[in-house]
Order: sequence, then C-alpha cells, then structure tokens
Amino acid sequence: MSKKNFSVIILAAGKGTRMASPLPKVLHPVAGKAMVHRVIDSVKEAGAKEIRVVIGHGGALVQQVVEPLGAVVHKQVSQNGTADAVKSAVPGTLEGTVMVLNGDHPLITKGDIETLLQQHEDSDSSISVVSCELNRPGSFGRIVRHKGELRAIVEAKDASADTLSIREVNTGLYILDADVLNQLLPMIENNNAQGEYYFTDIISIAQEHNIKVDAIKSKKTVAFGVNNQRQLSKATQYVYKRKVNSLLDQGVMVIDPDNTYIDDSVQIGAASVIYPGVHIIGESKIGSYCVIEPNCFVSSSQLDDSVQIKMGSHLEETQILAKAVVGPYARLRPQTTIGKEAKVGNFVEMKKVKFGDGAKASHLTYLGDAEIGEGTNIGCGTITCNYAVDKKKYKTVIGKNTFVGSDTQFVAPINVGDDAVVASGSTVTKDVPSGALAVARGKQRNIENYNVKKNKAEEKSEQQEKTIEG
Ligand code: UD1
Ligand code: CA
Repeated sequence: MSKKNFSVIILAAGKGTRMASPLPKVLHPVAGKAMVHRVIDSVKEAGAKEIRVVIGHGGALVQQVVEPLGAVVHKQVSQNGTADAVKSAVPGTLEGTVMVLNGDHPLITKGDIETLLQQHEDSDSSISVVSCELNRPGSFGRIVRHKGELRAIVEAKDASADTLSIREVNTGLYILDADVLNQLLPMIENNNAQGEYYFTDIISIAQEHNIKVDAIKSKKTVAFGVNNQRQLSKATQYVYKRKVNSLLDQGVMVIDPDNTYIDDSVQIGAASVIYPGVHIIGESKIGSYCVIEPNCFVSSSQLDDSVQIKMGSHLEETQILAKAVVGPYARLRPQTTIGKEAKVGNFVEMKKVKFGDGAKASHLTYLGDAEIGEGTNIGCGTITCNYAVDKKKYKTVIGKNTFVGSDTQFVAPINVGDDAVVASGSTVTKDVPSGALAVARGKQRNIENYNVKKNKAEEKSEQQEKTIEG
C-alpha cells in the first residue's frame, strides 16, 4: 500500500455547546483559519485522495467552508454518537486505508498524519488508534491495555475509578482498513452511559473477531481537542508561537514571540526585525532587512527588502518597494503601490494609489484613486477629492518632480504635469501643465490697524460692564 493512498472521514457534526458561541464549533478560527479548515489542509497536504466531512449542527455553514476546499459533506441526521457519524459518511463506498479524525483537533500537521500512516503501514494491524499520554487525562476515552496489548477504549463517563487513573488516552484519530471498518461498524451498539453509538467500541469488537488492533502513541498536539474558548485561545497562541519559532530559525528577529501574530501563510526574509504587537496576515510577503515597528497590521501585502514600517501603521493589499519608509500611523488601503525610497509619513491615508519612486507625502494627507510621479512632494494636508456627487470615483494624476504646497485639494478628475508647482492652500479644479505654477486661492487683503480698533472696542465694552456692576 502506498501511504499516499488513503481517504479521510472528518467528524464535524457535534454542537460544541461548551464553546458558548452561536458559530458551529469546527468553524471557530485558530490563527485566522477555521479548525476544520486546518484539519483538511493537513490531510490534503499528506495526500488524502478523498475527504468526507460529517456535518450536522450548523451544517449549511460548515458546508460553505469545506466544499471549496475539495471536501464532500455527508449529513448526520441526529447526533447519535461518533459511530453513527462515521456511518453517515457511507464508508461502504471507500476502499484501502481510511483515516477517521475529529474536526476540532486543529494542531494536527501534515507531518503527524504522514508519520501515523507510516506507523500503521509498518504494523500488521487492521485498526490503529492514535493515543497519547496526558498528565490530566480528563474526559478523554482511556486506552485499556492488557499485558501491553490494546484491549479496549473506555469512555470517561463509563469508566471505573481504576480505569480513570489511566493516563493514556484516545485522541479520536483512527486508521483502519476499509474492509474491516465496514465489517465491524454495523456491530456497534448504544448500551452505554450516554445511549450513543461510540466509535471507540470498534476496538473491543475487533478483538472478539480476532482482528488485530494497535494503539500508536503520538504527540500532545495531536490529542489537543478544542471544546471551549479557553482551549481555542490556547490553540491559537500555540499556532502563532510555532510560526514565530520557525521564523526565528530562518533568521528573522522577532523581539517578543508571545506578542507577535503572524499567519502560517506569511513569508519573511532573514535579518528583518518584527517588533511586539505586530499582526501579519494573509498572503503577505516581507523581504529581508525590513523593520516593522510595534502595533502594525499588515494584511496580504508585499514588502520588498529594507522597507521600514513605523509604529501603528495599517496596511491592506499594498505593495511597497525597496527602502520605502511608511508611518508612523499611516493607513494604506487596497491596490496601493509605494515606490522605491518613497516616504509616507504620519496620518497619511492612501487608497488605490500608485506612489512613485522617491515621492513624499510626509504628513496628514488623503490620496485616493491617484498616481503620483517619482520625486514629487505632496505637502501636509493635501486631499484628493476623488468622490463626486454622482457617487463615482475620479482620478488625480500628478507628474514627476512636482511640488504640491500644503493644504491643497485636487478636485478630480485632474491632471498635473511634471515639474509643476501648486501653491499652498489651492483648490485645484483645472489641469496644471508641466512646469506651471498653479495658484487657486483667495488673494490676501491686509486691513491696516485692524487690531487697534478691535482693542478700543473691547475697552469700551469693559467700561460699560463696570458701570452696570457699580
Ligand atoms: C471522543 C471519543 C473519546 C476521545 C475524544 C478525543 C467517542 C465515543 N469518544 O470523545 O474516546 O478521547 O473523542 O477528542 O468517540 N461527532 C459527530 N456526531 C456525533 C457525535 C460527535 O459528528 O453524533 C463529532 C464531533 O463534532 C467531534 C467528534 O465527533 O468533532 C468527537 O465528538 P465529541 O462529542 O467531542 O467526543 P468526545 O466526547 O470528546
Ligand atoms: Ca461527547
């Protein structure tokens, strides 16, 4: 048997009452990805040829998430236990090796799956149950052995005090030969504390039929099931920490691993420094020698080498070319590209902007639907008025090496040429040719001795007040 040739049944019909949340349990996200999505990714990466997900509570929502991942859903009509759930997946139509696992064990990896399949293949057992030694075995089913050999799995609710003291538990992951699974599954009954059909009973039934079973010991992360929000939070922290550790190994400096949140999908080049409180999510790619200061949020963005993102900046679907500096407190919205060595300063917002190499917008500016040529300087308080009364967006195009004075508004659509100057305080409504100076503001008028008159008027009114008081 090739270890690549296996099918998977993921149990995900349970309600998850202890999550105390209206979301179906397996859809709760761990580091930005639904638990069941993580399980599907891991089995897919390990080469599963067919993935069936048993749905029940919140089934329609679960279906929406798992079908696009290539899984097929099977409805369990009422949640009568894990054996009933496996039955709902119609295993009679499966051949070869079948893996059964829970949708709420989000820490399992491709590597874990591969190792377990290999161990099952190397043993001559028809059923392998994956177990784990826990210091606090809690509500897990206990692995009962006799002279070292697996005998049965006993649910905590049905166990005697002696059995409860066993520390080896059932992780809920099984690898079975399809023929054996289909032979034994109909024999499982529901005479137990919960009146449920326990899939775990397949072990003792197999023994009665002289079918060889085995328990394979695995890691705590394989056993880690999420039943409540505390465990969800623990799983999330574990996944973030695992990512940070792998980045540290790759030469990325993460100052405070406990307070840095980076998705698995993110790539970061060596010698980059990530400060605390940073979130980097989605398909983000960060180059080498970058610095990302505290409390920045970076979503699906690409940063070339030597980019500096200063404190408190928020980036979405943005591309930043080498040696550019952004922030502090900048907001770059989707479809924005910042050119090489460009500078975007504090309280600058951009949306759908192509910002040229070496261009600068150092303070308090909004640019939307704009192209800014290389070397152009955008003064403090500049606004592109891109949104018109017709509810459409219009573009502002500014050429190279142009100087835009502070407090300028561009009423789009507008074109400004190269090497132009826009006087401070202008409201620009007409195109500006290359090399021109545009002045679009009220002329200054000075009224002499204005202050003298004003002071006299104040003096007078003060005297009047005194008269009244007296
Ligand atoms: C189960 C095992 C237990 C094991 C533990 C590991 C049984 C009887 N017990 O217990 O030995 O230590 O998992 O986490 O199998 N589900 C359905 N339909 C149902 C019932 C459950 O789809 O009718 C799904 C749940 O959504 C969940 C999984 O099966 O993903 C396990 O169910 P859960 O109720 O959490 O089982 P445990 O009591 O934890
Ligand atoms: Ca249960």
